[in-house]
Amino acid sequence: MLTAEQNRLLTDVAPGTPLHNYWKKQWIPALRSEALKPGGAPQKVELLCEKYVAFRGDDGKVGFLYETCPHRGISLALGRNEGNRLTCIFHGWSFDADGNCTRMPTEKDQSFCQKVKGQGFKVREGGGIVWAYLGEGQPPKFCDYAFTYLTREHARPRASYNEANWLQNVETLLDSAHIGLLHHDTTADASLPQAGLQLVTGNDTPKYTLEQRSYGMRSYSLRSSGSENDYLRVTEFVAPGTAFIGTTDAEAGFLIIVVPVNNTRSLQWYIYWDTRQPIDNNLPDFALLGTDDSDDNFAASRQGTPNYGQDREAMRASKSWSGVPGVIFEDYAVAESIPIVDRTREFLGSGDLAIVRLRRELMERIRQSEAGEDCLQAEASDYRALRALAEIIPTNTNIQEFTEQKLQDRKASFA
Ligand code: FES
Ligand SMILES: [Fe+2]
Repeated sequence: MLTAEQNRLLTDVAPGTPLHNYWKKQWIPALRSEALKPGGAPQKVELLCEKYVAFRGDDGKVGFLYETCPHRGISLALGRNEGNRLTCIFHGWSFDADGNCTRMPTEKDQSFCQKVKGQGFKVREGGGIVWAYLGEGQPPKFCDYAFTYLTREHARPRASYNEANWLQNVETLLDSAHIGLLHHDTTADASLPQAGLQLVTGNDTPKYTLEQRSYGMRSYSLRSSGSENDYLRVTEFVAPGTAFIGTTDAEAGFLIIVVPVNNTRSLQWYIYWDTRQPIDNNLPDFALLGTDDSDDNFAASRQGTPNYGQDREAMRASKSWSGVPGVIFEDYAVAESIPIVDRTREFLGSGDLAIVRLRRELMERIRQSEAGEDCLQAEASDYRALRALAEIIPTNTNIQEFTEQKLQDRKASFA
């Protein structure tokens, strides 16, 4: 349970709030690189309750600007993209990819251009994503996750939006206890290649071991099968919104990043990577189930469908637990059911231990951010080395030692 004040601290991302300031200290995955064609249409991007526009010049360089023109405030998304400049169609002011104003046809004295500052933001591209730094001053070390070194052949980022506050989306990523319940239709499917997942079914009280890390937190959730084997899932959480989700050696690497668009809308990235084969040959079934073709918002056609098509007949006939088709949309239906959860009215139990620690970790980092302390610990963090695990292990295995060894092996054989 949180106080109303704590709940607001962790959910309100409007400009001026501590959460807004904290998020602005990070590199934020904003849109897919492929969404921006050289000389093509600029794209609107909303992040942290603020509006931006992104464009790619003919030279390939990406510009990331405030959406509104600093002259009289109309949208630069209407603008002309030519000559590596975005030009407002109202009075023709032009901006380069760094946000510098380079031309003002309405002014005799072009030196007025130099007075117009603060329109552009720093960007990087990696792993098929345009990452933006929306804060002031120098950005932190880039969060160079392993997939950011790969091309589209081996890394596939898929973006989508849901109409819920970012925090409940992140909480779901750390909530191992819901997997065997909400996602029962999938975990109970005996034909699944991920044999370990079946050990989740009917085993809904994982034992958590949580370790603080420079980047955030490592969460071990262990389920006993009652025989000689246990099922271990290790999730790596990178504050504030990234979680590496456990997979087996045979599966692709997988992480999810949650970004606040505004207080009741989230951008979610589902990112898969595999260095050993083309990623499209090794996408998990659930990744595409029920989704649109577009990787820029794969949930678009499902939004507005009441309860994501929950099938009451299938529920009554015990053919489906949630009635919602698809793992991803089960999570979305839950998140959107109450767009900002009232955490003053919760009863948290032992199955929610990871959630409690997650909130504590975020509150501490927000406090550090406000105090001007190092709230990211980016220099101390080896982002590139992060992996997660899903493994069947002999009962009584030392899970920390096992995990360290396994992560080393995986890094060596599967970059
Ligand atoms: S509003 Fe953009 S140039 Fe006037
Ligand atoms: Fe889930």
